[in-house]
Amino acid sequence: MCGIVGYSGNSEACDILIEALKRLEYRGYDSAGIAIWDKGTIKIGRKKGKVDELKKAVCDGTFRGKLGLAHTRWATHGTPSEKNAHPHKAGHVVVVHNGIIENYIELKKDLKKEGHTFLSDTDTEVIPHLIVHYMDKGNTFLDAVRATLKELKGSYALGILNEKERILVAAKKESPLIVGVGNGEYFIASDAPAIINRTNRFIFLEDNDVAIFKNNTVRLINTDGEKIERKIHQVQWSDAMAEKGGYKHFMLKEIFEQPRAISETLLGRIKEEKGEIDFEEINLPDVKKINKIWMVACGTSYHACMIGKHIFEANLRIPVETDIASEFRYREPIVSKNDLLIVVSQSGETADTIAAMKEAKKKGAYTLSICNVLGSTIARDADSVIFTHAGPEIGVASTKAFTTQISVIFMLMLYLGKRLGVLDSQDVRNHILEIKKIPHKMQNILEMAPSIEEAARKYMQCKDFLYLGRGIHFPTVLEGALKLKEISYIHAEAYAAGEMKHGPIALIDEQMPVVFVSPVDQTYKKTCSNMEEVISRRGKIILFTDKEDQEIHQRVDSYFVLPDTIYELQPVLSVVPLQLLAYYIANLLGTDVDQPRNLAKSVTVE
Ligand code: G6P
Repeated sequence: MCGIVGYSGNSEACDILIEALKRLEYRGYDSAGIAIWDKGTIKIGRKKGKVDELKKAVCDGTFRGKLGLAHTRWATHGTPSEKNAHPHKAGHVVVVHNGIIENYIELKKDLKKEGHTFLSDTDTEVIPHLIVHYMDKGNTFLDAVRATLKELKGSYALGILNEKERILVAAKKESPLIVGVGNGEYFIASDAPAIINRTNRFIFLEDNDVAIFKNNTVRLINTDGEKIERKIHQVQWSDAMAEKGGYKHFMLKEIFEQPRAISETLLGRIKEEKGEIDFEEINLPDVKKINKIWMVACGTSYHACMIGKHIFEANLRIPVETDIASEFRYREPIVSKNDLLIVVSQSGETADTIAAMKEAKKKGAYTLSICNVLGSTIARDADSVIFTHAGPEIGVASTKAFTTQISVIFMLMLYLGKRLGVLDSQDVRNHILEIKKIPHKMQNILEMAPSIEEAARKYMQCKDFLYLGRGIHFPTVLEGALKLKEISYIHAEAYAAGEMKHGPIALIDEQMPVVFVSPVDQTYKKTCSNMEEVISRRGKIILFTDKEDQEIHQRVDSYFVLPDTIYELQPVLSVVPLQLLAYYIANLLGTDVDQPRNLAKSVTVE
């Protein structure tokens, strides 16, 4: 997704902005650009491709100035190219944008009639033109910006410069934008990791906020021009936490960080002696009135929801419906005011998930978000939020966010179970004991990394993979297959093992690895029958299980015995070797693991 950074202070802006852009690379992008203001002129540089290309072109001492903006673009309207890269300029106004302007065609038509000419295929370019249009009518720059914002339909995070005045303006609606408060200097950024090495003090802008940076001060107004106040938050994420820490890729680092991420997510919340979960941050209405639970998300977070359905239904006996946010928002779901809608999102900025949450709120449901990013839209706009304390997740393919999401869902089940009276303190205590063991068991799995790498070497040339699992292991294999296709570009499909005979069995031959996740539980024997069917068609099985079973193990191609745990927590463990398998295959194939082609970390457009 597009990334925005801005600087207003007493240091040279160019190097600061390029460095901040590099730190936003994880979001995924296809071109980059920069604008530096100096004594009434703005210099603009734009390049298709990586930030390093832009750096080569602009970091030669010619882009001098202490005020500026920069941008990484992830194409939505118009192909990736230099002319479509931001910043866009009209008259004396320069703009960078993240989001989508839905009424840009109408606006462009009207502006063209007035004589404005457009140089790009983007929706963004209407913004500086519209500001110029209002300035031409005699408005001040700031009034013209406000009038423009009121005309825009859709979503935006904007950085705006005016060549004639030393002012930087930042504004947002439905796309993320934060202000970093330094020592006599200010930053703007789409996300905290961009500037966390410069400051840990942030203002999280809200929709319709406009921040104006002038004379090394900031003031906030809304689009009506009224003064507003926002708190400065001090965050704990250190710079080192956002770096690779010696690992080849962020993804590998994040896989290995999972035991710690889970421990931190549990910290302060599990009260073992009392047999209680303390979520002081949530303020649910009478839980006994909950009619139905909805769990809605996208991508990996959606897989966490599917696992949540198993965890909640088995223990709470409340019906749970899961939905993909982009489906939920457009299908008139029957949501009532006694429903609890849980949205799960690592970034807290996924456009479809935000829209689904709004939709449910409108229908009267209580909204609870499970989120990893402090100050994000979903975290702010939900009725309550529970944070996963995974730390910044930089690799595009989600790993530690997923396992911490499941840990929160598990704790939430205990929290609700106690309040509903379906679990007593002893039940909660027993479950707490199990989740407390997870970080250590996960560590044992991580120690199996070299043998998983060996397996990766064995299968890396295969063109297609099938992943099978039953019950709670079905979402786990969906996640495993997603990881493999995301980062290795190998076709991988996941099915509920019971569905194998309804189609995928036709694909099985000696070229086709079939990954089974099958701990020894109530469906183990059924899954063994599916394994037999694969073996008799000479398919290659890679099995992840939790107990020795020589009868099966002698006949599969590879098997791994993982530590065991209770049913509800098995996905937290069994997904780890699937993450590692995908990682090592991708790494051996030499793909861009942290920024896979066409993917974005945070999908802020629908
Ligand atoms: C993108 C990311 C995925 C993520 C999904 C949902 O597709 O690449 O890793 O699972 O968005 O994102 P969220 O931030 O809402 O969890």
